[in-house]
Amino acid sequence: MALILSGRELAREVTDSIRTRLAGAPVPGLAVILAGDDPASSVYVASKEKACHRVGIRSTVVRLSGLTDEASILSRIRPLNDDPSVHGILCQLPLPLGIDRHTVASAVHPAKDVDGFHPENVGKLWRGQNGLFPCTPLGVMGLLRRNGITLEGRHAVVLGRSDIVGKPMAAMLMMADCTVTVAHSRTNDLPSLCRTADILVTAVGRPGMVRGDWLKPGAVVVDVGINRLPDGSLAGDVCFSEAEAVAAAITPVPGGIGPLTIAYLLLNTVNAMEQLTR
Ligand code: GUN
Repeated sequence: MALILSGRELAREVTDSIRTRLAGAPVPGLAVILAGDDPASSVYVASKEKACHRVGIRSTVVRLSGLTDEASILSRIRPLNDDPSVHGILCQLPLPLGIDRHTVASAVHPAKDVDGFHPENVGKLWRGQNGLFPCTPLGVMGLLRRNGITLEGRHAVVLGRSDIVGKPMAAMLMMADCTVTVAHSRTNDLPSLCRTADILVTAVGRPGMVRGDWLKPGAVVVDVGINRLPDGSLAGDVCFSEAEAVAAAITPVPGGIGPLTIAYLLLNTVNAMEQLTR
């Protein structure tokens, strides 16, 4: 049976350490822009607000209509860039139709870019410089480190090439001395490729796609997928019951990477404040 890599425990440790750091410190501010009424986004933003409240970060949510245009979003970002009480700015994705997420990401001040989506931070990540980096892959790295999983020299396969998870994940694993392959929906013979992975990170959004016989025995499986099934339950990209019989270690869904995304968002916000107020 595989070791279960719990994200909940690490998320608690990260938030506890933030609370300690903030004792007697100025109050950090996080501003979230939520445009439109995507139900999943509303749930995520509500969880972010609650998590901020719990650790003593002041969160404000700018709610905009789904009919908002790009110029209006940019005009809401500018004052936040200039507001000294705001240390982190996040525009919840997906954005309404017709708004370019790259334009929006570039409008956020890089020092307040707690999502790590600004091109300056993307460049710093790939160069191995300090910066603000995407929260979900930071959570994955934290969980692997916390569980003493060796990365150096191992073959990591990342399923998914998104700007939010796949690409930054590949960069972080490469910086940690893994040999990295990024695979995606057009990759030939995914099962055979996955069987060469010592570490498999999945972020494809297809429930149960990765089967037990896709895994190398003893692999470490990190399931970033959070898929809502018709019955309302959550499932990962990996068929957990099959995979846990083959893998050495595996993250559950829920309770794996999910809780870490918000924990590392809080950490990015506190780090941004420290950098901005030095
Ligand atoms: N929507 C889904 N995941 C994310 C994320 O990590 N950041 C933002 N801004 N929006 C998201």
